[in-house]
Amino acid sequence: MDSLYGIVDRLEETSRLTREEWIFLIRGRSAPLAEYLFQKARYWQHRYYGNKIYTRGLIEFTNYCKNDCYYCGIRRSNPHAERYRLTKEEILECCREGYGLGFRTFVLQGGEDGYFTQDKLEDIVRSIKSAYPDCAITLSIGERSKESYQRLFQAGADRYLLRHETADEVHYCHLHPPALSARSRKQCLYYLKEIGFQTGTGFMVGSPGQTPEHLADDMLFIRELEPHMVGIGPFVPHHDTPFAQSPPGTVELTLFMIGLLRLMLPKLLLPATTALGTIDPLGREKGIQAGANVLMPNLSPVSVRKKYELYDNKICTGDEAAECRQCLTRRIGSIGYELAVSRGDYPSILPEQR
Ligand code: 5AD
Ligand code: FES
Repeated sequence: MDSLYGIVDRLEETSRLTREEWIFLIRGRSAPLAEYLFQKARYWQHRYYGNKIYTRGLIEFTNYCKNDCYYCGIRRSNPHAERYRLTKEEILECCREGYGLGFRTFVLQGGEDGYFTQDKLEDIVRSIKSAYPDCAITLSIGERSKESYQRLFQAGADRYLLRHETADEVHYCHLHPPALSARSRKQCLYYLKEIGFQTGTGFMVGSPGQTPEHLADDMLFIRELEPHMVGIGPFVPHHDTPFAQSPPGTVELTLFMIGLLRLMLPKLLLPATTALGTIDPLGREKGIQAGANVLMPNLSPVSVRKKYELYDNKICTGDEAAECRQCLTRRIGSIGYELAVSRGDYPSILPEQR
């Protein structure tokens, strides 16, 4: 087998590694190897995106959820989660404020909440689209039928985020109740791509029971799916969940995985996530320097921010959207990047935006 550096070179050249090589690379990583990787990752980031960072305004519109994922603070069986839903008017108000601040993508994220029926969701998507025709709408509302996805796409949704969480069936069962499976997750992702959504998947780094073998399988799955976006962040324990006592994922491994993703799929839309900013005050800046090119600050009303608590100590829960945007501008300015005012589509979808 090649040296670790040789494997990184080959990943850059061919965008494929064997499972054994992925495992060898992840197990054998070191600070100098990471620096070598990040330099290459920044080369590709600059090639496709220059020094521009795309932003998405995140609207966490409901924290009701019928699911019971063992790691998540808004899981059904957490009686301490204070539940809320935003009205359509409140959602539109978030968009109005966000538009004024320069956001051209709105991400509607929520638990799997039956209150928001297919008709209600389509109506919300249509209303946003007609008020802001120059904006992209991203949905992040979990597993649904192909027909439902199809209709949401027709209503005007452009993108969909659904992290696969872990590609390994057995590990998936360790993190989720029996009603959920890796197989149906993956099936949803293939439907979303087929329908024409810019599709995002992703996983937590350092989730309970995760091994380098699992991460290797995540990379192989992502290579096969070829999504447009991949969101990864460290696992962060939430005090009211079965994994309250599990250790968090590390910044170091999260950054290494970001670098590998940039090299494997160089055009990827790759966020430096809030979870990464939560475990390290400079986590998002480091994420960008490892190859990330997207930030997703919160546009939800400050009154509900703390309630969308997937994990402990989530950052930015007390800050107005405007403060957050300014704060991000300053933070990324300090490392030589700028926030873009644009939809921030995947390069091959709107070639004129390259
Ligand atoms: N730590 C980190 N990320 C989490 N998510 C859910 N719970 C946690 C946690 N405790 C992530 C999942 C989900 C996304 C919305 O948030 O990956 O897909
Ligand atoms: Fe949200 Fe700094 S990025 S307050």
